[in-house]
Amino acid sequence: MSDEEIKVILIGESGTGKTSLINATMGLKFKESVESTTTNSFSSKTVTIDKKDYVLNLWDTIGQEKFRALTKIFIKDSKIVILVYDITRKESFKELNFWLKMIQDILGDEPILGICGNKSDLFVREQVKEEEVRKYSEEKQIPFKLTSAKNPLSFNKFLEDLVKKYLEKHGVSVGNNGGKIELNNKKQTNEKRRFC
Ligand code: GTP
Ligand code: MG
Repeated sequence: MSDEEIKVILIGESGTGKTSLINATMGLKFKESVESTTTNSFSSKTVTIDKKDYVLNLWDTIGQEKFRALTKIFIKDSKIVILVYDITRKESFKELNFWLKMIQDILGDEPILGICGNKSDLFVREQVKEEEVRKYSEEKQIPFKLTSAKNPLSFNKFLEDLVKKYLEKHGVSVGNNGGKIELNNKKQTNEKRRFC
């Protein structure tokens, strides 16, 4: 039987670091200059839970406003949605409400949600106070994590936590009998699979 696939999407304003976070989790080197995404695509990664493999399809969406209709199409069937803002750009945090509404209009309360405050390495230029986001995260009941594409550990850990939450919601108990959850490269495709 083939491994169960889980669709994960990263969504948020242009320039917040969605592509860079996906590249980092795929083990690619951080680039200071990345072309703004204009095609929806995904990369695959494996998560092994209590010896069972699941394939995570990590969808990189387009942040640019003029392509929003295209981004919207790819929200369908997402099981985990990660909203990304840039801690050095207040506007990108304010826009989370917009993205959240778009997600809820399409998926209702079904998906597991998470918020990434990305570019945590640039904390000296911080425009969004962590406290403010914690409050937002509690109000909306959406877990929050500070991440940096320069150091993917925190993002990877967050991804594992969200997968665990998703599986538990669907009746799979994770971490019992000394079992563990582990993100790995068994089914990794660095080649991005593009759709429009
Ligand atoms: P769109 O594709 O336009 O939606 O943007 P995006 O969200 O994919 O952003 P992208 O990954 O292209 O990153 C935008 C810029 O921010 C690039 O110059 C990256 O090098 C930089 N960047 C991304 N993540 C980080 C980070 O964690 N820290 C720092 N210092 N720079 C980052
Ligand atoms: Mg991008």
